[in-house]
Amino acid sequence: MDAAGWDERYRGSELVWKAEPNRFVEEELADLKPTGRAVDIAAGEGRNAIWLAEQGWDVDAVDFSAVALEKAERLAAEQGVRLRSVRADLTVWAPPEGAYDLSLISYLHLPWAQMTQVLRQTANGVRKGGTLLLVGHHAANPEHGHGGPQDPRVLYTAEQVADLWRPYADILRAEAVTRPVTDSEGGSRTAVDALVRAVRR
Ligand SMILES: C[S@@+](CC[C@H](N)C(=O)[O-])C[C@H]1O[C@@H](n2cnc3c(N)ncnc32)[C@H](O)[C@@H]1O
Repeated sequence: MDAAGWDERYRGSELVWKAEPNRFVEEELADLKPTGRAVDIAAGEGRNAIWLAEQGWDVDAVDFSAVALEKAERLAAEQGVRLRSVRADLTVWAPPEGAYDLSLISYLHLPWAQMTQVLRQTANGVRKGGTLLLVGHHAANPEHGHGGPQDPRVLYTAEQVADLWRPYADILRAEAVTRPVTDSEGGSRTAVDALVRAVRR
C-alpha cells in the first residue's frame, strides 16, 4: 500500500492499532537502559515510539503517512512526551550511519527486495553495541495463525531477518513467537510473529 492508502486508513479519530506498545517490544526492551537515541521505523500512530519516549529514549518516529505521524505527535503530547517525526519513504530514506542506540521495526511488511534494503540500512544506522529489534507477522501466520497480511511476498521468517542482520550484528533471539488475538466475532485466536533481537558489532 502506498502513503495515500495508509493515510486513508489512518484518517478518523479511532486508532487503527492499539494505544499500548506491542507486547514483545515491551518485554524485550523493558530491561534496556533508555539512554540515547531510538528510531521507530514505520512508526504508524506511534504506540511503540510513545512507550519508548516514556521510558526516557530520545525518539525519532519514521513513517511515510503524514496522517499517522500527526496522530502519533498528538498522542505523544497527550502523554506528556515528545517525538521527532520524520516523514519519509523507507525505500529511499536511510538513517545516518551509527546514529541510533536502538532501532525498532514493528510490523513493517514490504516486498522482500525492499525489506532487505530497509533491514540493511536499519542495521547500518545503529552504533556499535546498540540494539536492533524486529517484530512482524511470520511467514507461517496465514496457515498457522490469524490476521495480518496474507500475501507471502511480504512475509518473512525470523531466520530470514537474522541472516540479513548477521553480517552486522550478533543475533540474541530469532524465533517464531505467538500472541493471543481476538477475531472479528470476538473469538480467541493465536497470531504467529517473527521476533529478532540483535546487538550491533
Ligand atoms: C502495520 S503498520 C505498523 C505501525 C507500527 N509500527 C505499529 O506496530 O503499530 C505499518 C506502517 O508502515 C508504514 N509504511 C509502509 N510502507 C512504508 C514505506 N515505504 N515508507 C514509510 N513507511 C511505510 C505505514 O504507513 C504504516 O504506518
